[in-house]
Parts: sequence; C-alpha cells; structure tokens
Amino acid sequence: MKKIVSGIYYVGVNDYETDLFEGLWPLPEGVSYNSYIVKGEKTAVIDTVKIHFVDEFLKKVEEVTPFEEIDYIILNHLEPDHSSSLVRLLEKTPNAKIYCSKKAQGMVESLYRITEKVHVVEEGETLNLGDRELVFYMDPLVHWPETMVTYDSREQVLFSCDAFGSYKALDVGIFDDEVNPDDYYEETIRYFSNIVAKYVKYVKKAMEKLSGLPIKIIAPAHGLIWRKDPGRIIKLYEDISERKANPSVVIIWGSMYGNTKQVVNHVVEGVKEAGVEVTVLDFSRHDLSYLLKESWKNKGIILGFPTYDGGPFLKTSYYLHLMKRKNLRDRIVGFFGSSMWSGRALKQAADDLRELDWEIVEPLLEFKGAPTEELLKHAKELGKTIAEKAKQ
Ligand code: FEO
Repeated sequence: MKKIVSGIYYVGVNDYETDLFEGLWPLPEGVSYNSYIVKGEKTAVIDTVKIHFVDEFLKKVEEVTPFEEIDYIILNHLEPDHSSSLVRLLEKTPNAKIYCSKKAQGMVESLYRITEKVHVVEEGETLNLGDRELVFYMDPLVHWPETMVTYDSREQVLFSCDAFGSYKALDVGIFDDEVNPDDYYEETIRYFSNIVAKYVKYVKKAMEKLSGLPIKIIAPAHGLIWRKDPGRIIKLYEDISERKANPSVVIIWGSMYGNTKQVVNHVVEGVKEAGVEVTVLDFSRHDLSYLLKESWKNKGIILGFPTYDGGPFLKTSYYLHLMKRKNLRDRIVGFFGSSMWSGRALKQAADDLRELDWEIVEPLLEFKGAPTEELLKHAKELGKTIAEKAKQ
C-alpha cells in the first residue's frame, strides 16, 4: 500500500509469474495490475487485480480501510486482469455497490453472475465522496467497449485504466520520479501497439474528450503513475493516436540459409548514409510483440525475407497478417529477399500491405539464390531511399 496524494492510495500488485500477457505478448519484466482506493467521507476502490494475486490485494486494501467501510467498487474495465478479484472483494464488502458503464453491467453478469447492487453510470456523472467528487467519462474501445475512466476533480488525478499503461512490473517504485521513466515509456509503446492499437481511432476520440481536463497525475491500471511529468505520457498518446511515427527506419529480416541475410548490412549502410536512425530485428528470433512495436515507432520499414512454399517466409506472413489485424497505416516500405524458383513472395507481401495504404517503394529486390554485387548496390540504394522518405 502506498499513498499517492491526500486520500488516494495504491493497492496494486506485481505479476512476475505470467509469461505471456493475453497468452500472446511476452512479459520479460512482469506487469503490474494497479488498483486504487479513494478515501473521503465515503470510500471507493477503483478496479481490482488478476485473481491469482487476490490475497495480496485484499491484504493491501485492508491496510487502507476496513472492508465494511468500502462503499463503492468502481470498475473502469471488465477485462479479467482488472476485474477478476471482484467476487472475492465483494465477499468482504457487504456495503459496497458496483459502479460501472452500461456495457460493463452485462459483462459483470456474464463473467461473475452478479446482478445486484450494480449502478450504471452515465457520461459525466459524478459520485460524491464527501470531501471530493469522482467523475466518470466513457472511453469505449480503449480497450473494450465498456471501458471508462474515473477522475478525481479535487486532486486532479485521472484513473485511466489501460490508456497510458505499460508492461513492466513496478519493482523499484510506482512513480515516474522514482525510476528511470524511459524504460516504462518504451514498454508503454509496446503495450499500446500490442493491446490498444487496433482501436486507435477511439483513442483519438478519448484524447479529444479528455483534453480539457486539468490533470496533475495519470494513474493507469498497468505500469507507472505519472506525477512528475504526466505531460510526457499524454504527448505520447496524442502522437500515437495520430499514428505519428519517428523519422527513422526499422529493418526486419528472416533468412533460411543466409542468402537474404547477406543483404541486410548493405541496406543498413544505405539508411545510415542518409543520416537516419535504424533498428534491425530478426523475424525468427524477435517476438512479434517487438516487431509490432517497432513498426508503430518507425516511419520507414524494410522487410527482407525468402520465398517459402510459394509465398512469404512463414514468420513474415504472420507479421503481415498482424499489420492488417492491428490496422497499422501510413508507412513507407521496401522489400528484399531470395527465392529459388517461383519468386512471388515479395509481390504477395507488397499487395497485402497496399490494403493498408502503405507506400511501396519499387523495385522489389527479389533475387535468385545468392545476391550479386549489383543487387547489393541496389540494396544500399533501397536503404537510402526509404530513409530519405522517412525523414520527410
Ligand atoms: Fe489491462 Fe484491457 O486490460
């Protein structure tokens, strides 16, 4: 339990046990499930934690308040990483009423079979806790359709749930001035690209809606609480919701026998010659979570991969599918790769990405077998061309 400001406490937990978030995304440094208590004359718990950590959570809650004095349980979001301790919390809190959105009400029933003592809140509704008020704003599809945020208007704290959240447990401190916030900043981008990016247009709407609120502290449901520099994470979300990318390049390559791999350094050379920052990742050895994150971050993307079974290298196919599922738009992309006989893979990949309005830089550098000196020169030019375009 930690105090955030007068009357607001952190009662979240760290999870170092789950290896894959949503069964998909790696958690090499864990993740936190942040829950909060707001204590005025009345007391509210905001969100819970994943059920596996319920005992630790309940202990922290009890350090702040006797359970019978809890009047409200506010559910900003019903995804079970935030709601699955609800039943156990309710068993201890006979006087508590659930506050949630209309869509969340149906989820409370379908997930937990709870139909009583549920109050559906409206957009902009306030809850008076005596010495302060909480205000509720709907932000549907950031990340599920029932999602809302809660705002403490006296302390100007926004409990933003998944928005502004990140991977990485809160192992050293819970505030941005207690740790190196850069580590969490990168993990915020990865979390966004993996979890929320599909709904980016709703993030934009939510950012517009919340833009008039004075905010001193951002208290998300995962990762750091931003009290020193909330503007930094707000700016990141503003940029990201506009699909703004860095004027830099990521090269993602895969190779079966080293022929495609031989080209990579030449492409890198071309990018560097244009004075542009470059990141290099490997389809086979970097998890898609990171490929997705870097594809969101960089304006220029260069994909190198061989033909496999008459189409793109399998890991590349999954990546291309993911770009469509996550609806990543407005990137500049180039291709290189080896084939032995059919040679259709690069064209197939390019056609796939055209659907997303990516600018395809021609020519597609497909070559038979090993690359020639001539091809390597073209590869360097490709790197330079994409870098120049990314800079613009
Ligand atoms: Fe962290 Fe969408 O739950």
